[in-house]
Amino acid sequence: MTAPTYYVTTPIYYVNDRPHIGHAYTTLAADVMARFKRLDGYDVYFLTGTDEHGQKIQRSAESKGITPQQFTDEVSAVFRALAEDFNFSNNDFIRTTETRHKLACMELWQRLESAGHIYLDKYAGWYAVSDEAFYDETELKEGPDGTKLAPTGKPVEWVEEESYFFRLSAFEDRLLDLYQNQPDFILPKGRRNEVISFVKGGLQDLSISRTTFDWGVPVPGNERHVMYVWLDALTNYLTATGWPDAAPRWPADMHLVGKDILRFHAIYWPAFLMGADLPLPGRVFAHGWWTNEGEKISKSLGNVIDPYELKATFGLDQTRYFLLREVPFGNDGDFRREAMVTRMNSDLANNLGNLAQRSLSMIAKSLDGQVPEATLTAEDEALISAAGAPLLNEVRGLLDVQSFNRALESVWAVISEANVYIDAQAPWTLKKTDPMRMASVLYTVIETVRRVTLILQPVMPESTAKLLDLVGQPTGKRDFNALEHRLVPGTPLPKPEGVFPRYVEADA
Ligand code: MSP
Repeated sequence: MTAPTYYVTTPIYYVNDRPHIGHAYTTLAADVMARFKRLDGYDVYFLTGTDEHGQKIQRSAESKGITPQQFTDEVSAVFRALAEDFNFSNNDFIRTTETRHKLACMELWQRLESAGHIYLDKYAGWYAVSDEAFYDETELKEGPDGTKLAPTGKPVEWVEEESYFFRLSAFEDRLLDLYQNQPDFILPKGRRNEVISFVKGGLQDLSISRTTFDWGVPVPGNERHVMYVWLDALTNYLTATGWPDAAPRWPADMHLVGKDILRFHAIYWPAFLMGADLPLPGRVFAHGWWTNEGEKISKSLGNVIDPYELKATFGLDQTRYFLLREVPFGNDGDFRREAMVTRMNSDLANNLGNLAQRSLSMIAKSLDGQVPEATLTAEDEALISAAGAPLLNEVRGLLDVQSFNRALESVWAVISEANVYIDAQAPWTLKKTDPMRMASVLYTVIETVRRVTLILQPVMPESTAKLLDLVGQPTGKRDFNALEHRLVPGTPLPKPEGVFPRYVEADA
């Protein structure tokens, strides 16, 4: 039987900036989806990369006095390194300056053109280079010094030039049908409703080429024009599948994006695909934005959250856990250092770490460091079973709607049960009164730890690998099938060591 496939993407990131929390956050969520699906038997393709064309990048390069190609080579490498340093398991890293991508863009353009969806006219209107987006006069607000600003707060400039247009207005009904027939095409629900009312408000044709700069993919047949950077960027999802050659991985199952770029993914992108007669992705999920200790994050405030700093201060897996546990994925969230420390110490060091450490050290000291022989009671069996198929099913269902925080909550419900169990059974007392029972209790605990650890692998790949070593789970057998087996008594275990350190304030 061939494995079912799963194709998940992140936005491709603009290379005009150092990686910040927003970049790490979306890619982390995609990584967890990809890792979970792999362990669950899927043939997974996980794509991330960099968005390198457009006026914004051209200007950034100019201000540094280097060519856009040099500039994008440098910054793209930084994003590639972030993927490695955060243990992201992407299968591909796409750059929009690659030949494979330019060819895909030109092919898509030609298909749209030959289907009659593109025409040449003149654009006159507002453009925000920072957002690479066109805005209607009615959407603008006034800045403090009387200048006009985009709804995002970014400055706009007046643009008047010859431009190709995409007949977006012709796709209104088909888009509304899509949202209707595929109710979870856009998640979360609140965002879906926003998109629906925006489309119902009427769509204008979209300017899809520019002539006043040249850092982009040339328009086939008219090289005075380069393609609008969003048409170019969105096509990356298709390029990476090998399109226009045979592209069995298309369509993507899931595009993960931030809420600010939902419109491009949920309106423009499906309209382009419909126009080119290509299959549509399964879902676009828009996550919320982080603030820092209650403040909006901005370069000018100097409060940008650096993912590397989090990793250095709290540890990589701790950071990964916190970002997905603290806030529902669709909501905005506030990064508070105190909350990070609490999660790290209470959930990871105390609840999970201690449970494992206590039981494994008793096994090392009192039971020859081997998986104990056990005679299990109904209560022992109940705990072990709760950490098996029912937990996996619950987590699977929650991850299928990107509810990372609730999935983690349900794993911690079982970990808490195991803590209640070990305290009530008190194996440290049984050591003197009933050593056989002590062995069964410790078996029950480490088998439960083994199970929750298998399920937690996608979120904390490094720490769970260490913990699985400590409970004697063979390295080649760590997919979710391993939940159908149990630890074999007599298996020698390595010397226990702590996997989840406590955070201690440096000056404490
Ligand atoms: N290049 C486009 C995407 C093209 S996809 C075909 C782009 N790039 S970006 O570098 O600006 O992307 C930034 C990503 O980070 C977006 O998904 C955005 O939502 C996310 N975030 C930026 N600031 C953020 C926070 N403060 N919090 C969470 N995510 C944030 O857009």
